Amino acid sequence: RAVAIVKEFEEKCGTPEAKLVQIADAMTVEMHAGLASEGGSKLKMLISYVDNLPTGEEEGVFYALDLGGTNFRVLRVQLGGKEGGIVHQEFAEASIPPALMCGTSDALFDYIAEKLANFVAEEEQIFHQPPGKQRELGFTFSFPVMQTSINSGTLMRWTKGFSIDDTVGQDVVVELTKALKRKGVEMRVAALVNDTIGTLAGGRYTHNDVSIAVILGTGTNAAYVERAQAIPKWHGPLPKSGEMVINMEWGNFRSSHLPITDYDHALDVESLNPGEQIFEKLTSGMYLGEIVRRVLLRMAEEAFFFGDEVPPKLKIPFILRTPEMSAMHQDTSSDLRVVDEKLKNILEISNTSLKKRRVVVELCNIAATRGARLAAAGIFGVLKKTGRDIPKEGGEKTVIAMDGGLYEHYTEYRKCLENTVGELIGDESSSAITFEHSNDGSGIGAALLAASHSLYLDDTS
Ligand code: BG6
Ligand code: GLC
Repeated sequence: RAVAIVKEFEEKCGTPEAKLVQIADAMTVEMHAGLASEGGSKLKMLISYVDNLPTGEEEGVFYALDLGGTNFRVLRVQLGGKEGGIVHQEFAEASIPPALMCGTSDALFDYIAEKLANFVAEEEQIFHQPPGKQRELGFTFSFPVMQTSINSGTLMRWTKGFSIDDTVGQDVVVELTKALKRKGVEMRVAALVNDTIGTLAGGRYTHNDVSIAVILGTGTNAAYVERAQAIPKWHGPLPKSGEMVINMEWGNFRSSHLPITDYDHALDVESLNPGEQIFEKLTSGMYLGEIVRRVLLRMAEEAFFFGDEVPPKLKIPFILRTPEMSAMHQDTSSDLRVVDEKLKNILEISNTSLKKRRVVVELCNIAATRGARLAAAGIFGVLKKTGRDIPKEGGEKTVIAMDGGLYEHYTEYRKCLENTVGELIGDESSSAITFEHSNDGSGIGAALLAASHSLYLDDTS
């Protein structure tokens, strides 16, 4: 019976190449629809108001605040202009206390404003920012925001583990600015960006061929450089560059071609945002471990996989986190010691046979492979939409800036993703596409965009 459950899960998670091509095509169709009109698609295709990516000439000291990944961070970035490069200091990462993720808007913004206030005070003791000098900040806010300018925008809805009703519909820059005032910090928010946009900007700063950014972390999303004329819903003036960066919010993509199992349905129904972020729920770090837990639970309940009793810990949602899943999946010891240890420490399941541990590894492999291959199909869709999937005569290169814990730490996932993109675009094109891990890119990118939208550049440089 246990074998049958695994087999069924594997079949339902299948992502043969033909299916991935259908998914990529569906992605391009939705991209067109999302660009055509507001609400025209599940893909929001949000206009970022970034029509120029960093050039390398940005100069001055800027702060960045990065909210929305596993950790929240504050950075101080010193941009040295053409020759100088980047010097940056970073506030030790802090996690957002879970209670604040579902509390009130003021409580959340007060918390981050206070961290920023402490950081600024400490930094300025060391770096002696002249008193009264206007500080500026790039705010990376990694949720869907309908922007109204480069430094304003309203939160459309929360995603990932956040759910704070009174922030929805509010301008998050106003919320942050009010909190900064309450905490006595003088700071102008010069740029509001999604993490994908920050990663794109940070990636472009170090590599001129970066035109797409993908986050694979707690959540997943992509941004890319679009021709302004290919955005019918954009009614503003045509940017001089002729380009506009689009935040796809691809986590909310869905298609009848997606391989969705009963476990995914149940996970979705019981989630904070049922019916939403379906692609994200199949591919990203917040959910992969939880999917594996659900399959194991069914095996324990229906096939007594862990003995007569269902291990109580196995019933706790989200107890099996993706980093633990990744550690089990990538256990290279001959007796699968890591699997044994994780089962014991996290789920309080001991004395598993080697055979059972192998099954656990197999489940991790199935869920991770599906996620990575779907993310690859998404990337293939973006390459197709932008005509970058076929080799160009001039030898045009595409560098994809990548970030997020899943990409960074889950090697099997990353390898599978990159191989699958190669498989989909074919040998001829694959040498023109490269992936670059843009470590810290989104915080630095936000600082760079704050610099290019600074009102006080002469003061700070
Ligand atoms: C970080 C970025 O590197 O990756 C964040 O700076 C981003 O802005 C994050 O949200 C996503 O990864 P994770 O794994 O922390 O969700
Ligand atoms: C979620 C958010 C999106 C973000 C992504 C990665 O999908 O909605 O804005 O970019 O997670 O952090």
